[in-house]
Amino acid sequence: MDRKFNKANLEKLVSDGLIGNKIHFFDEIDSTNNHAVSLAVDGAGEGEVVIADCQTAGRGRLRNRIWHSPPGRNLYTSIILRPDIQPAFAQGLTLVAGVAVAELLSGYCPVALKWPNDILAGGRKISGILTEMRIKGQNLDFVVVGIGINVNMESTDFHEEICDISTSLKGQTSNSISRLGLTVDLYRLLEKWYRLFIDEGFVPVRDRWMEYSDMIGKTIEVTGTDVVQRGRCRGIDSKGALLLIDEENRTRRVLSGDVSVTENR
Ligand code: BTN
Repeated sequence: MDRKFNKANLEKLVSDGLIGNKIHFFDEIDSTNNHAVSLAVDGAGEGEVVIADCQTAGRGRLRNRIWHSPPGRNLYTSIILRPDIQPAFAQGLTLVAGVAVAELLSGYCPVALKWPNDILAGGRKISGILTEMRIKGQNLDFVVVGIGINVNMESTDFHEEICDISTSLKGQTSNSISRLGLTVDLYRLLEKWYRLFIDEGFVPVRDRWMEYSDMIGKTIEVTGTDVVQRGRCRGIDSKGALLLIDEENRTRRVLSGDVSVTENR
């Protein structure tokens, strides 16, 4: 583990901002998202973060996939947010985080955003986002945004079943990257995009998100739990839903699913 990656150093560098105003740092935890959700249920404030050197039960978004989380290598963090927005807009925070991560990683290598929660480099997954929320009555109580970034993973560190589809910053740049510096920059960028979202709404986020997406105009397939939808990708709408143009030229809103490109035009 890089020695600088610890709670005291992180506190020195981020405590004056909103994101990271209180840091829950663990050498090992089951899942930073699980812990952030239970802290938020117990009343933790906006901007508190959970961060760990390794996770024993890191979770991915789809079908209870696990997020491989070995020690000494990567970034695993979850951020508690309490925005005063309608629950229908909360999924937009996945895209807010996506833009922040894309901006962060594009300082090291070219990246692309894949709806709704993947960041790709060299066509492989380098980062993923898992957003969870709780609603109280009609209102949003809190949102937890969980972010995993493959930082210093070697190709041989990835499990066999994901090694062909995964990459890391080190894999893309051949350099070891400081997790401390990366975390500080991540929290700053997240704060910048979160404030923009709160102050100006989703439009600036959507515009930036579309610039990072390489799927616009391509023919794609979205696999949901029991339906596969095909069409040309038009982008995302004002709530972050994916827009597909089907064969009858109708625009369809897609709220969840796994996207793959079937034709490059
Ligand atoms: C995905 O791409 O499927 C989402 C992956 C999200 C992984 C991160 S790592 C930190 C946080 N804690 C978790 O258990 N999951 C998220």
